[in-house]
Amino acid sequence: MSDQKAILHLPGKEPIELPILKGSAGNDVIDIRTLGKTGYFTYDPGFLATASCESAITFIDGDLGILEHRGYPIDQLAEKSDYLEVCYLLLNGHLPNRVQFDEFHRVVSKHTMLHEQLVMFYKGFRRDSHPMAIMVGVVGALSSFYHDSLDITNETHREITAFRLISKMPTIATMSYKYSTGQPFMYPDNTLSYAGNFLRMMFATPCEEYVVNPVLESAMDKILILHADHEQNASTSTVRLAGSSGANPFACIVAGIASLWGPAHGGANEACLEMLEEIGSVDNIPEYINKAKDKNDPFRLMGFGHRVYKNHDPRATVMRKTCHEVLDDLKIDDPLLDVAMELERIALEDPYFVEKKLYPNVDFYSGIVLRAMGIPRSMFTVIFATSRTIGWISHWKEMLDQPGQKIGRPRQLYTGESGLSFDHVDVRCKSDDCE
Ligand code: CMC
Repeated sequence: MSDQKAILHLPGKEPIELPILKGSAGNDVIDIRTLGKTGYFTYDPGFLATASCESAITFIDGDLGILEHRGYPIDQLAEKSDYLEVCYLLLNGHLPNRVQFDEFHRVVSKHTMLHEQLVMFYKGFRRDSHPMAIMVGVVGALSSFYHDSLDITNETHREITAFRLISKMPTIATMSYKYSTGQPFMYPDNTLSYAGNFLRMMFATPCEEYVVNPVLESAMDKILILHADHEQNASTSTVRLAGSSGANPFACIVAGIASLWGPAHGGANEACLEMLEEIGSVDNIPEYINKAKDKNDPFRLMGFGHRVYKNHDPRATVMRKTCHEVLDDLKIDDPLLDVAMELERIALEDPYFVEKKLYPNVDFYSGIVLRAMGIPRSMFTVIFATSRTIGWISHWKEMLDQPGQKIGRPRQLYTGESGLSFDHVDVRCKSDDCE
């Protein structure tokens, strides 16, 4: 809170003083909670200027290209930490000491298996199902398996659910891939790292020994860290809104997965790779740049632009480096990378993209890395969802921990008909040509 107030002049009313709230960093916000009493609401579709909650988890300064989790910059976390430590940080608000670190890893590894009954769910899906569709179904079904921990007012229940979700997501995700290929499901190997276990469950078969490539393991770990949280994005806001009604955590996470699926959000890395394949060659880039700039063409450069970042996406900087490390290690000369690099160069110089501050975002590079690792396109958003689960749970938990938490219930600007008089269909339509 600050002493400053915003003064609002409304037609026919006395000026209203609205408190200005100060965060620990970032923009101040005008507290409009009392405004409804005046008979006015604010109008902000897409939340362009609306802070929907108070949060101490993640800070983004889009103008400076800063992303911090609990105060720690994302590049340092990606460089020096591992995904599970970042999970601990997001969930608990501080870094673990050695005992807490080991215990967190141990408990996560204890919950990696799925109930065998749940395994049968997969068989109900068509083999060509999108793995996101499977993930939505299976994660939703978790609430029918864990009745013992669904009391959202019980702190222990909330904690167990958080562990279950973090632990089981890689198993659920990779099983959806194995199912689509017809290969047997691989059970988790709890001696491996979170990222290593993911790669093994994705690519190993029971017939051969699988050795995790450390470069790919590190790249997967970075992908998981970079996607772990991003404050009040569409899917996290969806989880919060679902959770605000008291829905169970598995249902809330499914709401987040569904929201993430869209191409403007988590589906962007899949859409970006599709776009690079469609462009196909460096020679075709000018045509696609023109399409992206054409107001009458719905085409957008996927992997470019961000609602918040107007300078650079710090996740993209880490991902770009990782991309080159993976391609060098695997000795892959991917023509799509040439297309991507040239596209990036041209777009960064083109006045349209410069003026609108459209920079490559994390998804621009992550698709190329995942493709190089042999991960099919349809799994990209699934991996994003696996990683973002910790962000969703942390926000859900933070919301429930806040005193005075209310159900999310936005208002609207109504533009439809009003006060019409209803007649029965026989009265309304006395003739056959009645419209
Ligand atoms: N290609 C071409 N033009 C674009 C693009 C793009 N990728 N992104 C924005 N614009 C233009 C847009 O046409 C508009 O122009 P004008 O002002 O003349 O109408 C202007 O830039 C502002 O765009 P907007 O849609 O109002 O901006 P937004 O903040 O609502 O949308 C976005 C942000 C990420 C949805 C959008 O930039 C986009 O669709 N990008 C491509 C999809 C993508 O890469 N998404 C992944 C985001 S990062 C992962 C995550 O955090 O989920």
